[in-house]
Amino acid sequence: MRVMSRVLAAVAWPYANGPRHIGHVSGFGVPSDVFSRYMRMAGHDVLMVSGTDEHGTPIQVQADAEGVTPRELVDRYNRVIVEDLHGLGLSYDLFTRTTTGNHYRVVQELFQGLYDNGYIIAKTTLGAISPSTGRTLPDRYIEGTCPICGYDSARGDQCDNCGNQLDPDQLIDPRSKINGETPEFVETEHFFLDLPAFADQLNAWLDTRDGWRPNVLKFSRNLIDDLQPRAITRDLEWGVPIPLDGWRGRDDKRIYVWFDAVIGYLSASIEWARRSGDPDAWRQWWQDPEAQGYYFMGKDNIVFHSVIWPSILLGYSSPEAGSLGALNLPTEVVSSEYLTMEGRKFSSSRRVVIYVRDFLERYDADALRYFIAVAGPESNDTDFTWAEFRRRNNDELVAGWGNLVNRSISMAAKNFGEIPAAGELTAEDERLLAAVRAGFDSVGRLLGKHRQKAAITEAMRIVGEVNKYFSDQAPWKLKEDKARMGTVLHVALQAVRDCNTLLTPFLPHAAQKIHGLLGGTGVHAPMPEIVEVEDLDNGRSYPVLTGDYTVGAKWEHVAIEPGTPLAAPTPVFRKLDESIVEEELARLEP
Ligand code: MF3
Ligand code: ZN
Repeated sequence: MRVMSRVLAAVAWPYANGPRHIGHVSGFGVPSDVFSRYMRMAGHDVLMVSGTDEHGTPIQVQADAEGVTPRELVDRYNRVIVEDLHGLGLSYDLFTRTTTGNHYRVVQELFQGLYDNGYIIAKTTLGAISPSTGRTLPDRYIEGTCPICGYDSARGDQCDNCGNQLDPDQLIDPRSKINGETPEFVETEHFFLDLPAFADQLNAWLDTRDGWRPNVLKFSRNLIDDLQPRAITRDLEWGVPIPLDGWRGRDDKRIYVWFDAVIGYLSASIEWARRSGDPDAWRQWWQDPEAQGYYFMGKDNIVFHSVIWPSILLGYSSPEAGSLGALNLPTEVVSSEYLTMEGRKFSSSRRVVIYVRDFLERYDADALRYFIAVAGPESNDTDFTWAEFRRRNNDELVAGWGNLVNRSISMAAKNFGEIPAAGELTAEDERLLAAVRAGFDSVGRLLGKHRQKAAITEAMRIVGEVNKYFSDQAPWKLKEDKARMGTVLHVALQAVRDCNTLLTPFLPHAAQKIHGLLGGTGVHAPMPEIVEVEDLDNGRSYPVLTGDYTVGAKWEHVAIEPGTPLAAPTPVFRKLDESIVEEELARLEP
């Protein structure tokens, strides 16, 4: 048994600029939940935090497009996203937002701490302006040729081809992504984070990291080879104010959205602690040297988590720690690759998309969770197709796991009305029970290493063995030998009980139902709830996701109880008709 430890599951913060589609939740949403559920079941003390990312130009641009203020926009989509994530059963201890009083205070505290330690420097730079509107043109909305690798669609903040951070004025042939015009560059004063000052410490830290996905480690190392000071303020009205004298009251300059968003992991932990009644409880996940921190995201976010966030943490912690005290570096940056849709990039504007809420109106959350686990972009780009979604659902989830649950419970219900007792076990019976119990080790080990694809494949392989046992033993042919029939069904139900535990991190909704079908009571797989809360500092209320996850199944074999009443089961999973493929494809843009 592993020693219990504190585990921070830090999940990337979705922008509150629209509803989430399945591409958004497949890279980090569902995987971080599978991991957190498993770690809790295995006895660790998990703190899973995130929230909506509500500042910066992605919000400003969408607000302009919808003709509303940024605040109206984020209020609307924060709620929508909370509902999307709730529908998927993502077990956040706290899913909050970046427009809370608590977040503003923590961001300003870190900014001040870095400034006091000399890591924030003021500089005059060239800022881009749109000649037609006179407004600042955000970095992300400028496109041009990368001066480093020559890629022709590099963005003003970063090149997605070579991964280097850029400033917009470095782009060759810059143009506005909003209307194609050539930006004008004017002088403006900004604050910069002195990233080169952290290069040695970052390298030393990466040297001690093992078990990271090789791509992620390699990509992170490359980034450190070429660090430049990074602007952490913007010409924008929407964002966290700069907490320095002479800047605090200005309404034209704000802290850069990425600087504030990554601090969300810490501010959300502090908010969670304040709401828990023990305002210092967050320290156990951030200051105890034994605590571990896993950060989940898509690959376009790596630089912010393996360079910028660790630099902020290092710079706040020394030479003089700020008033919160020194803070832990991440244990691992767990980055996924991209999911595409029917061979194309997800695109809301081009209708190459399915939103989470639309998906959940027509299909079950666990059907999507299963697909993501078994075929998601864990360490390669993968493609979602409706035909493959239907095939996996029907052939694997329904015909494999669902069928086993259904036939074992219904046969026991019909012939015994309860869980039958086992007579003497044969070698075959013993072998099967041992094979299933070995799954706690094999599946658990893979889950602990973020190898969820291998983990669910292993769990489904075990389900396959149980199905084979059931077919080989053919209990339906044992009408004349009721005792042996009872033994076979007992063994099968015990195997189903344990397989259900192995699948709980992946399929929590189904696992709760199956627990009930086996006569279990109480919570097996705890679920998040949406709670409307008051802001702790300035009064506006908002919805959060939270829950009590201390209850529920543990990661261990549990013996079934002979004599537990069983009723005929209702199907747990739904078979999908062939017609859904055509229907769904017709909804996409051709
Ligand atoms: N909102 C960003 C995105 O969607 C992710 C922010 S993650 C955080 O790409 F670390 F900054 F919180
Ligand atoms: Zn490049």
